[in-house]
Amino acid sequence: MTARWAAPGRVNLIGEHVDYQDGLVLPFALPQHTTATVERQSGDQVRVRSRGEQEEFQVASTPGQVQGWAAYVAGVVWSLREEGADVPGLSIDVDSDVPVGAGLSSSAAIECAVAAAIGDELALQLSAASLATIARRAENSYVGVPTGSMDQMASMLCERGHALLLDCRDLSTRQVPFDLDAASLTLLVINTRAEHSLVGSEYADRRHDCEAAADELGLSSLRDAEQADLPRISDPVHRRRAQHVVSEIARVREVASILDAGRPADIGAQLSASHQSLRDDFEVSCDELDEAVDAALVAGALGARMTGGGFGGCAIALARDDEATDVRRRVDAAFDRRGWQPADIFEVSPNRGAHRLD
Ligand code: GLA
Repeated sequence: MTARWAAPGRVNLIGEHVDYQDGLVLPFALPQHTTATVERQSGDQVRVRSRGEQEEFQVASTPGQVQGWAAYVAGVVWSLREEGADVPGLSIDVDSDVPVGAGLSSSAAIECAVAAAIGDELALQLSAASLATIARRAENSYVGVPTGSMDQMASMLCERGHALLLDCRDLSTRQVPFDLDAASLTLLVINTRAEHSLVGSEYADRRHDCEAAADELGLSSLRDAEQADLPRISDPVHRRRAQHVVSEIARVREVASILDAGRPADIGAQLSASHQSLRDDFEVSCDELDEAVDAALVAGALGARMTGGGFGGCAIALARDDEATDVRRRVDAAFDRRGWQPADIFEVSPNRGAHRLD
């Protein structure tokens, strides 16, 4: 028997850098996805193939033993075993069209596709949320990136035509309607293709800043902080980080309620405010992202913001259908003026999360 699954990358509509502070996030699934085909094989080795490359490792590998792209697969096998699963030798084929290193969760897509396909092949009866937790543990403890819970939950649980309102404190979810077509709206992903070094350490630094701010307030996370608490944070940098988290969680609530009311064209101001907060208070933007956002807004976009971890990667812009071409043109012209390589700009709409392929 073989099991074949697809799991998508994601775009975060709003709720940035709040998942690791027990916050609320609102991602949706991309059409771009990873597929994983899994088959048992004899022995105690896992053989992984992807686009002509092949790697092999022990079923019982432990963190640190497998590096590079195969670490995402080895991490999932390790994480399933941590969960108590008895994993035999496996042959795994993966393929993906999710842009890598662009902040669109290509790593969550591979982890989730592999976790779901192995779970299916071995009839482990794991829920989508458990698979997401297993995939996230692979990322955090095997690959070694201290991310929050958003990406894997989005890849597993998103539904077509909806954004996923995820409460990162208890992992409860609600599907929020986000039908762009019906509202004659276009959502553009602007991949700046900018990659900055130090991304990993900057991410960890932001987490520490937030933890220090929460500690000073006597809270387990900034989820419970309120605007009125912020002046009590003595370090001005920590205070600004907390200001972002508190205001961003409020913006997620606001966007979810506007979408619930069926008014997607009205979320633009919140998207743009999120960008300003990430740029000024959280300091995770960069010139390319700021330029993409500014150019989109000048061209008449309803709202625009960086998405994902920041320091490069992608921005999103929400525009009326008849203004989307102008947005593209303005961004292209701005990048050209700066002498940067052209951004890769594409239209997306909320797609389905992980699913079995027959
Ligand atoms: C990365 C992480 C997520 C989240 C975002 C920022 O994508 O993987 O867990 O923290 O950054 O919102």
